[in-house]
Amino acid sequence: MAIYNVLLIGGGGREHSIAWKLKQSELLGALYAAPGNPGTEQIAQNVDIDIADFASVVDFAEQKQIDLVVVGPEKPLVDGLADYLEEHGVPVFGPSREAAKLEGSKEFAKKFMKKYDIPTAGYETFASDEFDQALSYIRKKNQFPVVLKADGLAAGKGVFICETEDEASRRFRQFTEDENLSKAAGTVVVEEFMQGEEASVFVISDGHSAKVIHNAQDHKRIGDGDTGLNTGGMGAYSPAPVLTPAILEQVEREIILPTITGMQLEESPYKGILYIGLMITEDGPKVVEYNCRFGDPECQVILPSFENDLLDLMILSEAQRLDERELKTDNQFRCCVVLASEGYPGKYEKGKPIKGIDQVDPEALVFHAGTSRTNSQIVTAGGRVLNVVGSGDTLQEAIDHTYKNVRRITFDGVYYRSDIGRKGLKHV
Ligand code: AMP
Ligand code: GLY
Repeated sequence: MAIYNVLLIGGGGREHSIAWKLKQSELLGALYAAPGNPGTEQIAQNVDIDIADFASVVDFAEQKQIDLVVVGPEKPLVDGLADYLEEHGVPVFGPSREAAKLEGSKEFAKKFMKKYDIPTAGYETFASDEFDQALSYIRKKNQFPVVLKADGLAAGKGVFICETEDEASRRFRQFTEDENLSKAAGTVVVEEFMQGEEASVFVISDGHSAKVIHNAQDHKRIGDGDTGLNTGGMGAYSPAPVLTPAILEQVEREIILPTITGMQLEESPYKGILYIGLMITEDGPKVVEYNCRFGDPECQVILPSFENDLLDLMILSEAQRLDERELKTDNQFRCCVVLASEGYPGKYEKGKPIKGIDQVDPEALVFHAGTSRTNSQIVTAGGRVLNVVGSGDTLQEAIDHTYKNVRRITFDGVYYRSDIGRKGLKHV
């Protein structure tokens, strides 16, 4: 049996859970994480290479005889890391720059969905200096709320849901005036608001066949009851009961299949993980967004439920042989609560000693995100610090198991939502 040395790119909770899952594979040789975190350090060798410098990734891969590079976050993919590695003969799991445009350019994604008749919100695009045209479009439509989106990657800060024309006009100007946004917002997508509940489906594709790994629901807002600012995600649960078998079948037929064949027709076959963010509306499921990677924290609840060997699938996907496998998940519910630093997603302090990780049940999982190690002490080092994942036969049991363990971990200024998963209970 061949064994594979793997280099995992990234250092968040998502990457700790990917490393944890890869570690269970009989096919795994050496596992490296760049940059990794104190969680991956326990199961992989963290390496200090600059992942934005693609040449140094190739150098490392050659030096350590890496058989597969697995890319966690979107930025390197959108910037073309997969293409660069392929051009240098290093096998990689993750979409090409062209395929990653499904996440990297909202205009590209909207045009693509229109062309292939994939259900999504109606839209129009404007250059950021076409303020008058955009405003007159919004006025003529006269449907509020209206959604304004920066075309490019904006770290979750590029979407505004505007209740009035006034607000839309202010936000549109913000796209040109805000230094952090203007780079992503050369083009602005003006989109219809979709009413419904959000959920996401995760797909693995080799460019030709695509298979659903699992589904989940994220909690993007900082506060209980979905209030306050948007974050990277404060918790997730899986599966999401809002996605009934009938809806999932519709998602496969109307969204997944045309997306994969559409990308083939565009001559950018999609290889890697495709995250499909959905709105379950009265008219059925519609695409809110595509992402070119696993979600964080959705990955942390999905991978523990996933019964296949992830490395095996990644290797088969790279070789375009994914159709050889059936995918399986267990029948447990899982819940993930993110422990954050007080102040996140705004300013927060770092360096707070973390206690109690060793008090967590053996059946619960703790994935590191913004932590660092000083001597033998783990301290906070980011906004989202740790992910606690619990499980159960029912969603309620999974929630209870998770929070029981969350309460065992303490640090100065720890903040977490107390209602992760509650939205799902009304469906069961
Ligand atoms: P995106 O980055 O496109 O996923 O947008 C971020 C969040 O904004 C989504 O997760 C939704 O909660 C919300 N959102 C985006 N587009 C729409 C839409 N057309 N209708 C309703 N909510 C939306
Ligand atoms: N949790 C949302 C994301 O990963 O995009």
